[in-house]
Amino acid sequence: MSNEKKMWGGRFSEKTAASVEAFSASIHYDSRLYRQDIAGSKAHAKMLAHQGLISAEECERIIDGLTEIGAEIAAGTFVFRPELEDIHMNIEKALADKIGDAGARLHTARSRNDQINLDTRLYMRQVSLEIIDQLSAVQKAFVGLARTYLGAVMPGYTHLQRAQPVLISHHMLAYHEMFGRDKERLRDGLKRINVLPLGEAALAGTGLPIDRDFVARELDFPKVSANSMDTVADRDFIIEFCSSCAMIQIHLSRLSEELVLWSSEEFKFVELADAFCTGSSIMPQKKNPDIPELIRGKSGRVVGNLMGLLTLLKGLPMTYNRDLQEDKEPLFDTIDTVQASLAIMAELLVNMTFYTDRLEQLTAGGGFMTATDLADYLVRKNVPFRQAHAIVGETVAYCIQENKDLPDLSLDELRTFSNTIDDDVFAVLSVQGSVNSRLSAGGTALQRVEEALLAAEQDLGMVA
Ligand code: ARG
Repeated sequence: MSNEKKMWGGRFSEKTAASVEAFSASIHYDSRLYRQDIAGSKAHAKMLAHQGLISAEECERIIDGLTEIGAEIAAGTFVFRPELEDIHMNIEKALADKIGDAGARLHTARSRNDQINLDTRLYMRQVSLEIIDQLSAVQKAFVGLARTYLGAVMPGYTHLQRAQPVLISHHMLAYHEMFGRDKERLRDGLKRINVLPLGEAALAGTGLPIDRDFVARELDFPKVSANSMDTVADRDFIIEFCSSCAMIQIHLSRLSEELVLWSSEEFKFVELADAFCTGSSIMPQKKNPDIPELIRGKSGRVVGNLMGLLTLLKGLPMTYNRDLQEDKEPLFDTIDTVQASLAIMAELLVNMTFYTDRLEQLTAGGGFMTATDLADYLVRKNVPFRQAHAIVGETVAYCIQENKDLPDLSLDELRTFSNTIDDDVFAVLSVQGSVNSRLSAGGTALQRVEEALLAAEQDLGMVA
């Protein structure tokens, strides 16, 4: 327990219990916000000076003192004190120790309730942009793969059963779309993060003549918050961000599941680089896809953090409640997890190769993946689709009995099921014919995929 009086200790006659100090301290995690706390305090001090609430000289001393403190923290020489609870009071106390009275004026017309809200927003604003860049890196990896394997085929699945042939590039570009939506969500969330809370003070505003627009300009916020009570109680922007991050991690998890399947001996669609796999301590032959497995596993904590935050807010009356201090660990853990997962996934993808020969064999050999093409062929010959479906069903049943696939059938055999079939049928029964017939917007035909690929490359600045 410290013997010093607390900064809020005026009305207390007893010292705070050591157990209480330990229980309520947040400095061991909110110290990560020191840069934002200092930036916010500098802007606040400038505004106070501009409004005549402190002198220009005091403002200068505050700013120099804060700059020194920032350098000490960055250099690792600053001593954080748990009995000072949080980053705000650790910095404020250090400032007061350095510059005396002027430091004691910094907290004029502000509360830790609006201050923590500001620090978190400033931090999330920066992290959102970082994650958007990381999503672009993952998209670029997919676009790179799509370009490398353009024209190569693979089985497309529904219900994890072979369905229709697709281009590998089409599958890669599906992930490009997915992660593109994630970027949009984060960009949209930035609109709500980018609102200045400072100046709302504890919950009701302040009687001192502050200028919030001045601070907004200093810190590059396009607008200031509208209601002091809502502002200090609001954590929606954190939940929204953690929801966007949960979506990202779920996308990564679905992708990971594919990579785990694809790298198995049973599928053997891809080879993950040795540098991104690990061995078994007992089975010498093993090469395990631990990275996608871990990413998949980490989706549990990211989803859990979101649930935790929703539950944190559930029963809270207006306005600030100390419960809200519990928002930061799930937020930070989510950020760390998503950033680490995106970074390693981008590397893993760039170093992954497809077994194109095997994929082509698998796609052509078996699974009746051109059955829909045969049905569509019949439709073009004016057979109603339901009838065409039945005809192809019978044809497939015949193939199973004869141990053949559709392209293996002779024209005579095919014509026993429908006499509308001519020898132009073989063009659609081949894998390439099937793929390239799917010219509908968003389809897997080479032409459509080439267009989508070029658009993606342009969007990501990979080509002029
Ligand atoms: N450490 C606190 C938090 O994270 C800062 C605000 C504390 N405000 C207060 N009045 N105790 O929410």
